[in-house]
Amino acid sequence: MYSQDQLKQHAATAAVDYLLPMLTPDTLLGIGTGSTVDVFIDTLAQHKHLFKAAVSSSERSTLRLQQHGITVLDLNDVDSMDWYIDGADEITHHLHMTKGGGGALTREKIVASVAKHFLCIVDQSKVVEQLGAFPLPIEVIPMARRIVTQRLEAIGGRVVWREGFVTDNGNSILDVHGLQITAPAQLEAQINDIPGVVCCGLFAITGASIALVAGQDGVTTLS
Ligand code: 5RP
Repeated sequence: MYSQDQLKQHAATAAVDYLLPMLTPDTLLGIGTGSTVDVFIDTLAQHKHLFKAAVSSSERSTLRLQQHGITVLDLNDVDSMDWYIDGADEITHHLHMTKGGGGALTREKIVASVAKHFLCIVDQSKVVEQLGAFPLPIEVIPMARRIVTQRLEAIGGRVVWREGFVTDNGNSILDVHGLQITAPAQLEAQINDIPGVVCCGLFAITGASIALVAGQDGVTTLS
């Protein structure tokens, strides 16, 4: 029986194997954030001579990439990239995701939006029929915390402020519990529309392009 950490390594290794034939000296890779991505970065680093640079979604990933000697570019210096690689807190068979457990959702969504393809790497425990068991993270402007909380409660959530946590952008995170997310793209648009919301942790309007899912019987693909 593989542990969850071993499965994360399997997903990361599968992602590197998947990307290797596509890497060229001009390749830029968008890099997500989290424990699965940490392992991906460590595995990718063995092939750092095969691609040009990375664009990072967090201070955490930037540090790890740079510790491996991988060049990290500012997104403002980049026009496009082929692949963005990231984990998820939940993912459905429709490739809709909840992200932001690590609090990096805003930069993740920004960097992912510049990439042609989103490669999601997860262990089997993240695959769900319907999003919502994992509390939905929302990044908010600190002064709007209360009003956004009220608006989220009005749509049926129980809102918990991630107290003491400050995002890389200087904002707060609200974790919304108890939502039945039957229409993720519609809910994402509805939450995006609340003044004070910086980013909603639903990645459904634009989901993943492909997911590599590591389970006890090997790595399977969702697409
Ligand atoms: C961070 C994220 C992560 O991708 C998500 O939380 C999954 O993390 P992990 O790989 O540690 O389970 O969205 O903001």
